[in-house]
Amino acid sequence: MRIIDTHTHILPGVDDGIQKEKDALEALRVLAKTGVTDCFLTPHVAKKRGFDHDKAFLEERFRAFKALAEKAGIPVRLHLGSEVDKCEDFYETVVNAPSLNKTDYVLLDFGMEEADIEELVYTFRVKGKKVVVAHPERFSYMDVHDWEKVRKEGGILQLTAKHILKKGRRPFNKRARKLLKKGLCDLVASDLHNVEGANLMKEAYDYVLRKKGEEFAKKVFWKNAEPFTG
Ligand SMILES: [Fe+2]
Repeated sequence: MRIIDTHTHILPGVDDGIQKEKDALEALRVLAKTGVTDCFLTPHVAKKRGFDHDKAFLEERFRAFKALAEKAGIPVRLHLGSEVDKCEDFYETVVNAPSLNKTDYVLLDFGMEEADIEELVYTFRVKGKKVVVAHPERFSYMDVHDWEKVRKEGGILQLTAKHILKKGRRPFNKRARKLLKKGLCDLVASDLHNVEGANLMKEAYDYVLRKKGEEFAKKVFWKNAEPFTG
C-alpha cells in the first residue's frame, strides 16, 4: 500500500497551517507511520488573506525544511506545491506560484463566493494547466451534475480525509460522502493544518477501501497522484 498526500499546510510558518518546525516534523512522522510515502507541501497563496509569498520564497523555505526532515530521518518524500485562492488575476497568480512538483498540475481553492468552476477549469486547461479542485465538498452551490461537468473539462476532484470520515463541519461531511458514493472523487488528501489529524489519511484509506474496494482506494490515494510526484 502506498499513500500520497497531495494537500497539506505543513511547511512551517508560511500560512495558517503549522507554525513551528518541531510540529511540522512531528506531523511528518505521524504521516510516515501511517503509510504516507509522499507528501506535498501546499501553502496558501492568497493575497486577500495576507499569504502572498512568491515562488522563490516558498522554494527556499521548502529546501530548508526538506533538509531538516532528511536530517531527522523521516521516510517521506516531500514535494512542493501551493494552494492558490481564486482572485482577480487568478491565472497570473497561479503561474507565479509553485505548481505541484513543477508539473502542469495546480491546486486551486475556488473560495466561498460562487464561481463558474467549470468555465475556470476549461480556461486553465486551454492555457496548459490541469486543475486539482481543493475540497469540492465545501461548495454548497455545486451539485453532483455540476461536478460531472467540471470533471468532463478535466477538473480533478480532491476530497478531504476528515470530511469523508465525518470529522469536519456537517454540511461538508455530508457532501463529501455524497461525492464519494457517486464516485466523484479523484483524490483524497488531508489538507492538514496541525499535528492533530495527521493520522486521518490512513483512517480515510481504510474507510474508502471498505466502501469502494481496493482498486478505487488505490486510485484516489496513490495512482491518480503519481503523475505529480515525478
Ligand atoms: Fe488547504
